[in-house]
Amino acid sequence: MPEENVSVPKHVAIIMDGNGRWAKKRHLPRVMGHHEGVRAVERTVRAARDAGIAHLSLYAFSTENWKRSPSEVGGLMGLFRYYVSSKIDALKAEGARIRFAGNLAALPEDIRQLLRKAEGETASCTAIDMVVCLNYGGRQEILEAINAFLEDRSRNTLSDSERPYLTEELLRRYFYLSDLPDPDLIIRTSGELRMSNFWLWQGAYSELYFCDTFWPDFGEEELEKALRSYAERERRYGGA
Ligand code: FPP
Repeated sequence: MPEENVSVPKHVAIIMDGNGRWAKKRHLPRVMGHHEGVRAVERTVRAARDAGIAHLSLYAFSTENWKRSPSEVGGLMGLFRYYVSSKIDALKAEGARIRFAGNLAALPEDIRQLLRKAEGETASCTAIDMVVCLNYGGRQEILEAINAFLEDRSRNTLSDSERPYLTEELLRRYFYLSDLPDPDLIIRTSGELRMSNFWLWQGAYSELYFCDTFWPDFGEEELEKALRSYAERERRYGGA
């Protein structure tokens, strides 16, 4: 078996920030920044695949993003519809599997159907696992997981060894994508230095990388810079 290259992160997660400011700088409506953001998504998925990254997760809509104006929320929902209905063949051609993480039940039913279809049609692609976080919030994911565990416990569907306390391993089983490894590297664009409720549990030991580039300008070169920075880090997971 070839030796695993630890300098390439297995899972890269990205907080795609700066679409609004990218548009504002050009006197365009905010939604145009999100449109251009879709192109950056396409470039980045290809570049990540070519760099040997197995999982790429993208924070596309947070549980807090509903607070934006109805026109911006509508514009974003329209973009998700457009992306998942028109890009499936392109994803398949690139060998990209697409999956979604978040409280999808709160999304419009037609979008949920499109998401399921995209997941089904790309399920056998193995070049890269693309995870789009939609209506995702780390706190909500943890709460939903605990509540699902409590429900199972009250229905007595757990084995004796799983009762009565939660362990890290058991909690993980209730997360949106329980097989997804923790992110090795979390990138945030646009110069903001926050986690914004992204992968709160899973990001406990992630390396963080911040860059000033607005998301619509992100691409291969920017990803390479982040990967170079990651390769120079020494990960200790709390050890000496
Ligand atoms: C943050 O920038 C970006 C978002 C809330 C939306 C991200 C969505 C996309 C990139 C488009 C579609 C994605 C996929 C996967 C099809 P912001 O609006 O907060 O920017 P600002 O901080 O400059 O205002």
